Amino acid sequence: MNAGVEALLPCTFVIFGATGHLSTHKLLPALYHLEAAARLSESLNIVAFSRRPWNDQDWRNHMREVLGDTVGDKINTPVFERFLARFSYQQGDLNDVASYRALASRLPSGEACSSTVFYLAIKPAEFSAVIHNLEAVGLNKPRGLNRVVLEKPFGEDIESARMLNQLLHQHFDEEQIFRIDHFLGKETVQNLFVFRFANTLIEPLWNRNFIDHVQITVAESMGIENRADYYDRAGALRDMLQNHLMQLLTVVAMEPPPALEADALHDEKVKVLRSIRPIAKRAVHAHAIRAQYARGVIDGKAVEGYQQEENVEPNSITETFVAAKFYIDNWRWRGVPFYLRTGKRMPRQTSMIAIRFRHPPQQLFRETPLETLEPNWILLSIQPEESMHMEIHVKQPGLDMDTRLMQMNASFLKTDEQTLDAYETLLLDVIEGDRSLFLRFDEIEWAWRVVDPILKHWTVEREYIPTYAAGSWGPADANRLFDSDDQTWRNEL
Ligand code: BG6
Repeated sequence: MNAGVEALLPCTFVIFGATGHLSTHKLLPALYHLEAAARLSESLNIVAFSRRPWNDQDWRNHMREVLGDTVGDKINTPVFERFLARFSYQQGDLNDVASYRALASRLPSGEACSSTVFYLAIKPAEFSAVIHNLEAVGLNKPRGLNRVVLEKPFGEDIESARMLNQLLHQHFDEEQIFRIDHFLGKETVQNLFVFRFANTLIEPLWNRNFIDHVQITVAESMGIENRADYYDRAGALRDMLQNHLMQLLTVVAMEPPPALEADALHDEKVKVLRSIRPIAKRAVHAHAIRAQYARGVIDGKAVEGYQQEENVEPNSITETFVAAKFYIDNWRWRGVPFYLRTGKRMPRQTSMIAIRFRHPPQQLFRETPLETLEPNWILLSIQPEESMHMEIHVKQPGLDMDTRLMQMNASFLKTDEQTLDAYETLLLDVIEGDRSLFLRFDEIEWAWRVVDPILKHWTVEREYIPTYAAGSWGPADANRLFDSDDQTWRNEL
């Protein structure tokens, strides 16, 4: 990195919630991988901020332990030692201004440092305390330079999201604020832009004339992983659908932006969200389904139900599965249902966007009646593999005019290539000040508006939540969202 560019980069990266789940499983491994790829500037220091009464050495020991699983045998190599040397530890309480004073006093300032990044890897309920306290000790300055990164969900509903945004704007300028949705950093999601806008052959088909419906599935086999204090308040709708799945929907449905720049992208995404048909109060039942996992079996192992997870409120009705149907009322999409579904403790981790095309209009093949002729699909797999599949009909070899379905598979990766974790891309963007993959507030506000009727309805109906067995694809009831009998959930590539 040349010295001129390096001088403009932040020189300190502070992680609030450094011992938490997000930091341990995503941020620290991603930062380590950036270190290994020599993408962190030499002068970057990282401060781990947490409640535990530790010193720098305790923190480093902790890192050796927790990163063992992720970076494995690379521990003790010069890269790992260089990485550890960047860290210091600040013991502190998020609600106590004195902790921020102590933090401020150890940050380099003046000519020695251009700016600091504050990453809020904490529960959303703690965001406002941190914002207030950063301001109280002057760490919101230099205005325009110091950055705050906020995880989703941004607010708990539309009102609290607006309040949070107002609070941020009292103390920070917009270019200091990075609202993260890490799904936008995933390779396949970025690839979707290329797939749609760099291939002439796709664009003419990408509309209501040819597409029957779109499915977006994010299935996870893991449970809530000791995150009950956050998850039990959030649930799948706030944790996944309002943000990650809604972002995937906008990327599938948006018009080509005039340029791949932050504002141009945000404008197009907002247009999609604004065109989503509002769900009337009385229609919530027909548009959305929630459920909670009960005991079951995954990969041959018995697993507990949600109610048995540590720290979950007794009789909690928090949903761990949600499926919903949306219509986008614009020229491209009117009448095409978008089915979104996400759940924990499903049979395996699979995230994909499945686009089903219409049946051909004419019956030409006698032996294969139209109703049994499988329609074409385009499947974009996000996880675990990143690939694209196209299902098309070919003639079966032989004397008869029979057809069969074959899959054309395109892996995005060549054999010697490795994908980056979304957080690697996004943390580098934060450090380099590129906001194109981060959210503008109006995107978040419109996404809340879309799910608001569902949230409100469920807040009132608090007596009962249906369950599904861990290891299943969710409640059978999720099939009732479909508009026609020949639509079914696509679980496999
Ligand atoms: C997070 C959610 O935003 O995304 C988690 O809070 C979820 O509940 C996770 O498990 C999934 O992300 P990834 O990248 O691991 O698929």
